[in-house]
Amino acid sequence: MLSWDEFNAQETPVAKPQPTPATPPEPKAVSDQASPEAKAPGTGSTADDGIEQQRRDNTAAARAASDAVARAQASVAKMDIEDGVAELEGAAGRVEVDDKRMINCRADLNQLVPFKYDWAWQKYLDGCANHWMPQEVNMNADLALWKKADGLTDDERRIVKRNLGFFATADSLVANNLVLAIYRLITNPECRQYILRQSFEEAIHTHAYQYCIESLGMDEGEIFNMYQEIPSVAKKAQWGIQYTRDLSDPEFTTGTPETDKALLENLIAFYCVLEGIFFYCGFTQILSMGRRNKMTGVAEQFQYILRDESMHVNFGIDVINQIKLENPHLWDAQMRDKATQMILEGTELEIQYARDTMPRGVLGMNAAMMEEYLQFIANRRLAQLGLPEQFKGVNNPFPWMSEIMDLRKEKNFFETRVTEYQVGGALSWE
Ligand SMILES: [Fe+2]
Ligand SMILES: [Fe+2]
Repeated sequence: MLSWDEFNAQETPVAKPQPTPATPPEPKAVSDQASPEAKAPGTGSTADDGIEQQRRDNTAAARAASDAVARAQASVAKMDIEDGVAELEGAAGRVEVDDKRMINCRADLNQLVPFKYDWAWQKYLDGCANHWMPQEVNMNADLALWKKADGLTDDERRIVKRNLGFFATADSLVANNLVLAIYRLITNPECRQYILRQSFEEAIHTHAYQYCIESLGMDEGEIFNMYQEIPSVAKKAQWGIQYTRDLSDPEFTTGTPETDKALLENLIAFYCVLEGIFFYCGFTQILSMGRRNKMTGVAEQFQYILRDESMHVNFGIDVINQIKLENPHLWDAQMRDKATQMILEGTELEIQYARDTMPRGVLGMNAAMMEEYLQFIANRRLAQLGLPEQFKGVNNPFPWMSEIMDLRKEKNFFETRVTEYQVGGALSWE
């Protein structure tokens, strides 16, 4: 251990003799201003005074540092582990699988294992295996086509702009809902692990739209503010926001049938309607454009996003069904009616969006075909929640969409995706 003098001798910089200036130097440091010698021009040796002042400063700094370390050591020494455990979410003690629950769980949420919901952990692993970034997609052909006067029809341009406008904000709404509302109310660590992964994917999606908008040299203000200016876009955003409002209040907690149902409504709104219905008209339109070799960079971005989104929807439906299983009293007739109503409202809003984005037939599709497709999707969402289908006799007019998302080939689809990503190959539009 060094003594104070040894410490100071070691730390004091070697001072070079300085010539006495003709005029006293301007005071620079606070310590100079505080020094009586510095304020008395023409008295004594300035160089010696400077060395002495430096030594005093070093001594004071070393004492202050030593005091700070001593305070930190004393604070750590008097820590009470019991106090810390009481502050953690959930009860203390080792976690057993049977202690775990999706909502209102009292087991320690900081212990990831043992897993109870293996499907949630598997989705987290699958999401990580599917990682991608927007800059990996070449946008040069899109820019050339976008700038070419007759490169796209007015209807095709409308579709590109409307969808970038809707999605640029919608993914932010989803991310905010995850982080500000859902995360703390889902009381299971393996599901939270997936929600964290999903949150990052939503950031990547918003990044992808920004990257498209920037690459094409679009008016960013027009596109990003579209959710407030274009009624068919604004209504969809507004519909989602109403379900975030109460739950993002830091005072909101679950634990009563009413509040647990509010959480269920939020999960249905975001996973089944926003991500499960509101995205599907836009995805179909942009992917159809890519299949016709137009805006292939934008379409490739949307294809990666759709693959992430199909996983988000499936995760959300698994969470909802698990909550129903563990809390059957919540899934009463009133809640089932409410869920059905929400799916139907979402379908109607998306049909209106289809009509607004496709006033005429375009890209081999039209609003009537999209209406049937959305009814087909709505039936699928209802069935996934264990509710009766509401649109009888509808078929899928876009079977090619099933090949690139979750409806029938989810597993093969993701296995293919991982291989393609790892070899860096471009997606094909078969
Ligand atoms: Fe997203
Ligand atoms: Fe999503």
